[in-house]
Amino acid sequence: MDAIVLPSGVSVNQRPVDLGPVVLVMVGLPARGKSYTARKVARYFNWLGYRARVFNVGEYRRHNLGAGQSHTFFDPHNVEGARARREMAHAALHDLLQWIGGGGEVAIYDATNSTRARRAWVRQVCQDAGVRVVFLEIACEDEAIIEASIRRTKVTSPDYVGRDPDDAAADFRARIAHYAESYEPVDDPDQSFIRIVDVGRQIVVNRIQGYLPGRLVSFLMNLHLEPRPIYLTRHGESLYNLDARIGGDSPLTEAGRQYAVRLADHLHAELPPAQACTVWTSTLRRTLETASWIGRPSRAWRVLDEIDAGVCDGMTYAQIARTLPVEHAARKADKYRYRYPRGESYEDLIARLEPAIIELERQRHPVVVVAHQAVLRAIYAYFLEHPPETCPFLSIPLHTVIRLVPGAYGCEELRLHLGPTPESSQGAE
Ligand code: F6P
Repeated sequence: MDAIVLPSGVSVNQRPVDLGPVVLVMVGLPARGKSYTARKVARYFNWLGYRARVFNVGEYRRHNLGAGQSHTFFDPHNVEGARARREMAHAALHDLLQWIGGGGEVAIYDATNSTRARRAWVRQVCQDAGVRVVFLEIACEDEAIIEASIRRTKVTSPDYVGRDPDDAAADFRARIAHYAESYEPVDDPDQSFIRIVDVGRQIVVNRIQGYLPGRLVSFLMNLHLEPRPIYLTRHGESLYNLDARIGGDSPLTEAGRQYAVRLADHLHAELPPAQACTVWTSTLRRTLETASWIGRPSRAWRVLDEIDAGVCDGMTYAQIARTLPVEHAARKADKYRYRYPRGESYEDLIARLEPAIIELERQRHPVVVVAHQAVLRAIYAYFLEHPPETCPFLSIPLHTVIRLVPGAYGCEELRLHLGPTPESSQGAE
């Protein structure tokens, strides 16, 4: 039987239907990596096209009460402090539920939520609003990880502007001790929860149902904190690039081969042979040829193949505009959702690339991704937190290597044009 061909421009929902919006309630003592995890989760779901947002109670405190409270403010015996903190927790939860009412899908309630009583309150308020709750506890008893987190993220936080770092660290440890006095781990077998211990050494999953929480578990299982570079590069210039044709499976031009050699030299200089490293390519000839000079173990992935231009494969943009003006106009109107007849849209591409993102998160040593313009736009958008709709317009030029180092507070980026400047300068349409 022939495959059913959808009319061009028809948008098929890429996102599985789920059980409705979900509130992810972070739980954990300070400096365990809750905010880091919350932001990564929001970024992941946003990239997949869901409306996700973090509501951080600490930000409400800083915004409404000003930053810089000393540890005594967090002492459970400080009646005034406890009342003020409760108010901030209420304000953030109220805004969160309003946001869900307006169409939000994954809301992350980022606070310590460290007692059973506090969690029972959050669950009740969400239940009354008809929204599911999943608790996500980040537990960590590894003193080295906690100390590194205090030094890296806390002493530089707005709460300690102008304070001596040792002094700030001591105050923060006292703050943790106040919370630890009444801390109760998440352990109610009747509730939905995920508990991550010591950055993934152990993960407990309890009563998790539905598509979104399921995706979340798989994502969380692959997170780690070790910094390592990810290199993104398009293949060297191909014959199709030179002819300004899209898609296809053409070999490299002479300039493309020169780039491949320069890329290999550059990577040899940055990653000495003793340094483990993997090269990923698509299954298309131009990426395989580009990677062949690098001389490292490589893996060809079909998920990294270029966006499928369907009936337009092999055409130039000018030909498409002339012979398929309706398609051309539809793509111009919504480049992100536009699906080539018998081909793909950027939205499709992101769904296809999800396993590659999970795998990139999991890797602990450098990875070099040799792929294609649209594919790298989607991957780059994930790491640099660009909204998915903007990814078709991101600049990923030929003969340029982009070095990304994901970290606790965003992603470092370095772009290096290695040349030669390609004759074809294929840009976005
Ligand atoms: O032109 C090179 C290329 O990789 C094509 O194969 C692909 O269709 C195109 O880039 C994607 O870019 P855009 O979405 O801007 O057309």
